[in-house]
Amino acid sequence: MSITDQIQKVRLEFQSELESVSSENDAVDEIRIKYLGRKGIVAHLFNKMSSVDKSERPQMGQRLNTLKADILEKIDGLQSSQSIIYQSDSKTDCTLPGDPLSIGTIHPITQVLEEIKGIFNRLGFSMAYYPEIDTDFYNFEALNIPLHHPARDMQDTFYITDKMLLRTHTSNTQIHYMENHEPPVRIIAPGRVYRNEAISVRSYCLFHQVEGLYVDTDVTFSELKGTLDYFARELFGQEMKTRFRPSYFPFTEPSAEMDVSCIFCKCKGCSICKHSGWLEILGCGMVDPEVYKSVKYDPDKWTGYAFGLGIERIAMLKYGVQDIRLFYSGDVRFLRQFR
Ligand code: DAH
Repeated sequence: MSITDQIQKVRLEFQSELESVSSENDAVDEIRIKYLGRKGIVAHLFNKMSSVDKSERPQMGQRLNTLKADILEKIDGLQSSQSIIYQSDSKTDCTLPGDPLSIGTIHPITQVLEEIKGIFNRLGFSMAYYPEIDTDFYNFEALNIPLHHPARDMQDTFYITDKMLLRTHTSNTQIHYMENHEPPVRIIAPGRVYRNEAISVRSYCLFHQVEGLYVDTDVTFSELKGTLDYFARELFGQEMKTRFRPSYFPFTEPSAEMDVSCIFCKCKGCSICKHSGWLEILGCGMVDPEVYKSVKYDPDKWTGYAFGLGIERIAMLKYGVQDIRLFYSGDVRFLRQFR
């Protein structure tokens, strides 16, 4: 058999051997040694070159080199793909497509907060942030909340020490801000608040509020009403109606609560609005002169209003969520609905 025929034969044998080889690395190594080893088939063919006619040698040499290169390329290709598959252990196939990365959603509380911030920013309110861990002074005393007030009870407030506590409302921000800034003031201050309450569908041990504070000369109650009415219609829709009911907060005088017309029954009366046609969404009032005194503002010169609203409550109304605990469950089936 001529060398040319032998080369062709080796090529075909190698091909079929490679195809039938199991994917074990060891088997591929064996083929490498068999064909390309020092005493392998290809080396053996090279040795036979001396018997070839001189004029044919260069051509034969070229053919043999090509055969060697082809065999090398195929074996290398097979081994490198196997080394990916068998890198960590022989049971893990790293070439399988990965699990798709699912994109998260913005939490509904954050979405509502962003909307609220947007509305008040357009009205010229800027943002302020103050501590969630605060002293009795900022959370109660400076806000004219007397010692005998039930909110100071251990039942409602998480005390850290006698004087330190987790704030029960964002109203502490009013004092911090006024202590550090001269009037006029026009801020909203969002944040987390804590109450030592039994956890239920309606209440959780922490939730979020947005505090608002406006201080200037000659501020009137009708400005307060106009601003909050505008806010409610921007948030819930222009057809929304609002009403103000007299209420009591130690740090405002007069105080009120604002209701919006029930978005579920359009004021006709349903189980969610307890058949009243109205839903309470915030507390507000004109800043009590006692509060100005504690931050050394002149109560004869400055007037203003404040308000505080619960973000969870608004999110529950806006999205028809019946159980406040869902916001903290981390359940992606719930969260995915807020795409
Ligand atoms: N801090 C009150 C609460 O947590 C809410 C509130 C009521 C804030 C009236 C105010 C206000 O600024 O004027 O229930």
